[in-house]
Amino acid sequence: MKRIGLLTSGGDCQALNATMRGVVKTLANNIDELEVYGFMNGYKGLIYGDYRLLTSQDFSGILTKGGTILGSSRVPFKTIRVPDDKGLDKVAEMKQNYHKLRLDCLVILGGNGTQKTAALLAEEGLNVIHLPKTIDNDIWGTDMTFGFYSAVNIATEAIDCIHTTAASHNRVFIVEIMGHKVGWLTLYAGIAGGADIILLPEIPYQIDKVVEAIDRRTKAGKGFTVIAVAEGAISAEDLKLSKKELKKKLEAKSYPSVAYELAEDIQNKSGTEVRITVPGHTQRGGAPCPYDRVLSTRLGAAAARLILNDEYGYMVGIVNNETKKVPLKDVAGKLKAISPDDQLIKEAKSLGISFGD
Ligand code: F6P
Repeated sequence: MKRIGLLTSGGDCQALNATMRGVVKTLANNIDELEVYGFMNGYKGLIYGDYRLLTSQDFSGILTKGGTILGSSRVPFKTIRVPDDKGLDKVAEMKQNYHKLRLDCLVILGGNGTQKTAALLAEEGLNVIHLPKTIDNDIWGTDMTFGFYSAVNIATEAIDCIHTTAASHNRVFIVEIMGHKVGWLTLYAGIAGGADIILLPEIPYQIDKVVEAIDRRTKAGKGFTVIAVAEGAISAEDLKLSKKELKKKLEAKSYPSVAYELAEDIQNKSGTEVRITVPGHTQRGGAPCPYDRVLSTRLGAAAARLILNDEYGYMVGIVNNETKKVPLKDVAGKLKAISPDDQLIKEAKSLGISFGD
């Protein structure tokens, strides 16, 4: 007999449902008695006791379903020790609800922030397993997070569509891609979509180099340029500013995001007409791609094996194409960013893609 709790927390992504299905199907297939409680809307459900007893029916037909059947929300890690507006101690409430249901384990699907809270709950004595979800692919200790490749597909499609219209009109186009503080999604979609310039948070860009790259294309008879910029990208100039100075600058200009600052700078420096496309949350939407369905199924099955062995306090990741349990305390709070020396960056540069550096 096993009694487990499931929750999905933070920004959603594709393959959350596929992962939960992997956990529950594997457990159901290997033990006679299983009770699964789904906490609604992330940690909120665990804090406020909003849960449902789920049946095998709930996990049927969800392999291909985007979003999360449990709902999600953001409860920032930095607020987790802060009592809520009614004075409730969130950590104490989570522990109480866990014990009230006599859970053997809590399976938590989420990104970096979620992982920090999962590690905290493990330190507080709960049996926890974390599964790495995010389109950003920025979780330390796993080569890949589920959701990433599905988002790469969508961002690539956006760049593909921009390519044809950019070519018709001989325009410079900026496509701004999600990824929070890291550039994985932009790097992969940028390369897959044949972007001419790729700007990442890990490689601060120089606006003159960006303009030079556009000019080079113009001189070579290419009338258009497609720039893939990560939402977290920053210019070398802005990087020199203190946090306060940067905030002041951005507020004064009221740029909605980095793409707008970049567009204005390119226009001012070169007089070239620039258009912006921001696919935004479409990158997290829709059905998971086949790669993510397989990855999620594997991670889910591996998490279930840990539960069957009563092994807790781990994230289940994938390293060199093998699922791997990684102690939560070794990974929580670490960010997996791209090294500017990454082979992929070097390969892209060797093709003539500019990184604005
Ligand atoms: O972490 C996933 C992500 O989509 C990031 O790429 C992005 O910066 C952020 O979430 C957006 O968050 P929200 O959905 O809260 O606007």
